[in-house]
Amino acid sequence: MTKRKPLIAGNWKMNNTVSEAVVLAQEISNGYEKDWAELVDVCVCPPSVDLKAVRGVFLFDRTKVAVGAQNVYYEPKGAFTGEISVDMLSEIGCEYCIIGHSERRELFGETNEGVNLKAKALIAGRIKPIVCVGESLAVRDEGAYLDYVRVQVRAAFAGIEASEAAEAVVAYEPIWAIGTGRTATPEQAEEVCAAIRATLAELFGAEVAEGMRVLYGGSMNEGNAELLLAMPDIDGGLIGGASLKAGSFLTIVKAAL
Ligand code: 13P
Repeated sequence: MTKRKPLIAGNWKMNNTVSEAVVLAQEISNGYEKDWAELVDVCVCPPSVDLKAVRGVFLFDRTKVAVGAQNVYYEPKGAFTGEISVDMLSEIGCEYCIIGHSERRELFGETNEGVNLKAKALIAGRIKPIVCVGESLAVRDEGAYLDYVRVQVRAAFAGIEASEAAEAVVAYEPIWAIGTGRTATPEQAEEVCAAIRATLAELFGAEVAEGMRVLYGGSMNEGNAELLLAMPDIDGGLIGGASLKAGSFLTIVKAAL
């Protein structure tokens, strides 16, 4: 039995205008049962322009669903056109922020160094980073995927103290499983999530690492969530496509109870 409280996080990616986001948030709120809050943390990460409205839905309903952002910039303020600061997210009640998603690394040039700066800025602003790591199919086929992911984890947490890292979350998202319908098997996902925890233990000590949450993401859905979530080092999911329908998202939440 794990003592970590699972986290089910929905990454809406670039989907839903404000009015669409409010409808989805309301459906999630309506289906959410209050007594789940003891057993599982739930979070949705809408596009930044939707955050305030989505947060408003959950606040109004007193539904214990947190909101998270999909990206942040590490500088506190200034001439950084198009960027959003930690304080901006904080003031609208963001509890989490995804950083280093493979789509941002591949399409928008996000680097391990940038992820590290963002992690530090978020921790300083008391927002929990959800640090995404994961290998491409080429790296997996070559066989060096554990080392590849360990390097990403070490880089993301460079210069961060154990006391600061405890609330951070790591999400293992193999690129070959994202949006492809090709999920990692529970054993494949567990192997890497366990390696991530071992790396966190090297960095922060076993006790802190045992308390940190490591999620799996990549084509997680209603059909495969239960088996993935049953693995000892998988403490939740980062859900893309299946988080865009309240019914499937809530079924995954239930699988984590
Ligand atoms: P899918 O669940 O659509 O594969 O996306 C996973 C993901 O990238 C979540 O961040």
